[in-house]
Amino acid sequence: MENINSKQKQFWSGAGGDVWVNKQNEMDIMLNPLGAKAIDKLDLNQETKILDIGCGCGATTLEIAKKIDDGTITGVDISEPMLKRASQNATALELSNINFQVLDVQVDEMPSNDFDIAFSRFGVMFFENPFEAFSNIYKSLKEDGQLSFVCWQNPDLNPWQSLSIQVIKQFLDLPAPPPKSPGPFAFEDKTYIQEILEKSNFKDIKIDDNQEDIVMFSGKSIQEACEDYLTINPVVTEMLKNSEEKLKEEVLAALIDKFSHFHNGDGLLFPSATWIVTAKK
Ligand SMILES: C[S@@+](CC[C@H](N)C(=O)[O-])C[C@H]1O[C@@H](n2cnc3c(N)ncnc32)[C@H](O)[C@@H]1O
Repeated sequence: MENINSKQKQFWSGAGGDVWVNKQNEMDIMLNPLGAKAIDKLDLNQETKILDIGCGCGATTLEIAKKIDDGTITGVDISEPMLKRASQNATALELSNINFQVLDVQVDEMPSNDFDIAFSRFGVMFFENPFEAFSNIYKSLKEDGQLSFVCWQNPDLNPWQSLSIQVIKQFLDLPAPPPKSPGPFAFEDKTYIQEILEKSNFKDIKIDDNQEDIVMFSGKSIQEACEDYLTINPVVTEMLKNSEEKLKEEVLAALIDKFSHFHNGDGLLFPSATWIVTAKK
């Protein structure tokens, strides 16, 4: 049991978690509108008991908590630094209907028939075995409980990712993860999502195509935005850290060249494609 998701635990409590804590504001500006699409699908009432899966630094946990005065929300995650930040944010806002727990949704025991809603913003694509994870989520929901999450479609429809990878690959030997392996694009294929949810017994499964522009590095010049961009992928950061100055400059120049088309004077504006997924127990 201990080794399951160990790479992800190491990543999210290490380099990956550090990036998300340091860049929380930027990440939230980019992801808030997409998370809002999945929140809009929820049938929230005041007494609702909610699970926020892979809640990270807690932006959505806090957002939902504000909407349910008499309800409670539990944010769970495997990243200790991100949960620490989430707790600090909740304390600063004096929100008392929230709690956070270090918990692996695939492996750890969750209470049965407990939650009215299971929600996630980009926190469900990192399981070694998503079938086990979603069966666990299913079990934790009450009868007729709701599931709603947002995840990325194919990188080709998300040029903030695909174009940068194209650029970086000209200079560095970036590893290419096999399809469906844990990572941001594990759920790019909607038939795979459908299969996971059906096998976990969910009903009324809907997978909506959501395409909208997203803002990255708001308020930053093209140079600053691209410099920042190169710090948000820990694999790239690590590879560049050990590279010569000249190579770093070449990567940055090539990225600026590729991304300048998307700079609108107030940060990078990219098209994006996500799946908004809903289902019921
Ligand atoms: C892309 S981040 C999204 C964080 C947050 N939901 C947000 O939108 O800002 C993915 C999150 O999923 C968490 N995660 C990955 N595997 C997990 C697991 N097995 N159980 C719980 N959380 C997990 C990570 O630690 C990370 O915080």
